[in-house]
Amino acid sequence: MELQLRGITKRFPGVLANDSVDLTARSGEILGLLGENGAGKTTLMNILYGLYTADEGQILLDGEERHFSGPGDAIAAGIGMVHQHFMLVPVFTVTENVVLGVEPTTLAGIMNMKEAGREVREISTRYGLEVDPDAVIENIPVGIQQRVEIIKVLFREAEFLVFDEPTAVLTPQEVEEFFGIIRGLRDAGKAIIFITHKLKEVLEISDRVAVLRRGKVVGETAPADTTQEALAEMMVGRPVDLVVDKGVAAAKDVVLKVEDLYVADDREHMTVNGVSFDVRAGEIVGVAGVQGNGQTELVEMLTGMRLPASGTMELSGEDVTHEHPRGIHSRGVAHIPEDRQRSGLVMNFTITENMVLDTYYSAPYSRGIIMDWDAAEAATTSLVEQFDVRTPSISIPASNLSGGNQQKVIVAREFSREVKLVVASQPTRGLDVGSIEYIHGRIVQARDDGAGILIVSTELDEVMALSDRLLVMFDGKIVAELDPKEVTNADVGLYMAGATP
Ligand SMILES: Nc1ncnc2c1ncn2[C@@H]1O[C@H](COP(=O)(O)OP(=O)(O)OP(=O)(O)O)[C@@H](O)[C@H]1O
Ligand SMILES: [Mg+2]
Repeated sequence: MELQLRGITKRFPGVLANDSVDLTARSGEILGLLGENGAGKTTLMNILYGLYTADEGQILLDGEERHFSGPGDAIAAGIGMVHQHFMLVPVFTVTENVVLGVEPTTLAGIMNMKEAGREVREISTRYGLEVDPDAVIENIPVGIQQRVEIIKVLFREAEFLVFDEPTAVLTPQEVEEFFGIIRGLRDAGKAIIFITHKLKEVLEISDRVAVLRRGKVVGETAPADTTQEALAEMMVGRPVDLVVDKGVAAAKDVVLKVEDLYVADDREHMTVNGVSFDVRAGEIVGVAGVQGNGQTELVEMLTGMRLPASGTMELSGEDVTHEHPRGIHSRGVAHIPEDRQRSGLVMNFTITENMVLDTYYSAPYSRGIIMDWDAAEAATTSLVEQFDVRTPSISIPASNLSGGNQQKVIVAREFSREVKLVVASQPTRGLDVGSIEYIHGRIVQARDDGAGILIVSTELDEVMALSDRLLVMFDGKIVAELDPKEVTNADVGLYMAGATP
């Protein structure tokens, strides 16, 4: 089967999101779709899935034109989508989630969950998607939740599967398993469209690669005919330095010190189990670890969003263990949160409002009780330019920005004032290579200007490249302190899995 997008054009106010795009997906093939932040990838896929209507152009299935007025039509035509932000109901079981909306019924119209469970099991064995049909979503790791999303799509008999940045939330181990799964789907004759910002992955998994830039297809190639550098240049239109450029750290006084910290999660389960470390001014400390080993709660505690069960935290020698978020913030701590839509931005606020979200009450934005919007807008305009946030205006809501551009707004805001300590979770998640180069540069600059930096990331390549000192977190504890220059990725991977090299 063949799915063809022909001359697709889509405009939003002030933005040409897709500019006469031609793209073909075929059965038995993995098409990698690359493009800088805001290039129009998600928009194009939303058109394919019937969520948006194109202003111009056609969708052809085996040469026949189709019109989708909603996802229902696209699903009926065999198109399935695994969104970047999963859409599962946390308190439902795997099977309940899979059948949601298409519940199988008996002749008498009674829902037949037993039959559904059998079918879920059948799909999961056929495609190597191991899951327990009766497990409750909130109790299973992200990698397995993704399998549920895939089963859901296969349950609706999809022949064309679209994955929008599926590996952004996976651990290196899960990525390998995921690749095994999509190769299996391809070999079973499915057509796969795979969106990613990771050039290494695109080269490893795709049969064909298409690159979008500013709404247009700027090139198509095959992994054998290209390199990471060439793809990067095709994406952003200039050569990109893929290696972090930094000198030796000159660590000074301790800015952050935590001692014997115990922190519980929302379900009162102790996920940080006796953590002690410090971060000095002028150094970058990385915390590597597989998601779910206490990093989330550790960062929430460090930024005042969660109280510890016991232990202490000091900023420049002062005890701040019980300080509120605003107090921590006003002591010069910047925070790039791991979930940008939940705790980084107010999605229906404008870019300007988001840019001053945590400083609006102080000078120069506040004069007594009057808010100086001109000052806020001037600062926003300059930050949007520096951080290359792609937007038609600073007065549109954050929700209209592409995923990567939302992330840039947060990073720009957090770097817009003088800080002593930067606590960054997954700072470059979802960013294109050009933006990663820029933000890594800003992080190193902040270090060299004397800030202490704590980077918490599941992205091993990123923490290895940025850190001057590397801590590995496993099961709520720091299990290793390493010099990134002296260890291999494989060894760090072993510590991350709770083993020793
Ligand atoms: N609902 C919307 N309203 C207005 N503008 C939008 C809307 N959705 C997307 N846009 C704009 O369309 C352009 C393309 O966005 P899109 O989300 O398709 O980019 P993307 O390639 O997926 O980027 P990323 O890699 O950051 O996810 C951007 O300029 C974005 O701001
Ligand atoms: Mg996108």
